[in-house]
Amino acid sequence: MSIKLRILGAAAGGGLPQWNCGCDNCNAAREGRIAPQTQSSVAVSGNGRDWAVLNASPDIRTQLAATPELHPTGLRELPLRSVLVTNGDIDHVAGLLVLRESQPFTLFATADIHGTLAANPVFDALRADCVTRTAVRLDQPFDLAPDLSATLFAVPGKVPLYLEGAEVETGLLGEQTVGVELRAGGRRAYYIPGCAHVPDWLATKLAGADLVMFDGTLWTDNEMIAAGLSQKTGQRMGHISISGPQGSMAQLARLNIAKKIFVHMNNSNPVLDPASPQTAIAQAQGWIIGRDGMEVSL
Ligand code: MLT
Ligand code: MN
Ligand code: ZN
Repeated sequence: MSIKLRILGAAAGGGLPQWNCGCDNCNAAREGRIAPQTQSSVAVSGNGRDWAVLNASPDIRTQLAATPELHPTGLRELPLRSVLVTNGDIDHVAGLLVLRESQPFTLFATADIHGTLAANPVFDALRADCVTRTAVRLDQPFDLAPDLSATLFAVPGKVPLYLEGAEVETGLLGEQTVGVELRAGGRRAYYIPGCAHVPDWLATKLAGADLVMFDGTLWTDNEMIAAGLSQKTGQRMGHISISGPQGSMAQLARLNIAKKIFVHMNNSNPVLDPASPQTAIAQAQGWIIGRDGMEVSL
């Protein structure tokens, strides 16, 4: 028993290239100069046979097609046991609609996120007699798949974009944005694709882990504004930046984490270009830049 992970999609919402974006990275991806990346999802297994998918991205159909471990093993038999969503964002839930073909699996999320899904009748396409919706309590371990334990914990974040009111709190700690702790065979791994900042207790939790996959949305907080792409900072979106004294590289340094991988990169992030100076800086600080299809065995 060990933990196996495969990045199904390394990009944030929108993917690389994003359909309506003419930034340098998106153009480079269209022209084949850098590798396109699909949207935010990871497959994980504790025994190499039974798999769970963490976040159902709008790209899940092509992601599953590109992942032999998740291909059908019989007429309607699959190694996929469950799907877990870490927030209600469109890049993490829209793929549930692709999984509607009367296929049994368990859908894990907090009660709050399940409430958001239940309020959208389009998700009733996941028929109740096939898909078991299980509400997970924070900080309580549960079986995500055979031989694989998971625990959800709150991380600083905000409600999904489509539920934002006039006032948005971007550092909410509750059931709307969670990280996942995975345990199997004595190994301990974390998947945290969205996180607004790293409080001391979170750094303490991650210390000594075998693997941390962490929010790599932006390199700098204002990079989308500077590139003329958006009026929003990373902080306004509920995402920490990689660089800077409050950034994830600084905050997760010296924690004795065996492997650190950035996931959920926005298409504006220079680390999506392997030849960028920022990629070299992140690598020099011990980080791996996640890519579609990347596999990790712990
Ligand atoms: C995010 O990660 O901030 C969201 O995926 C943004 C969105 O919903 O487009
Ligand atoms: Mn996202
Ligand atoms: Zn772009």
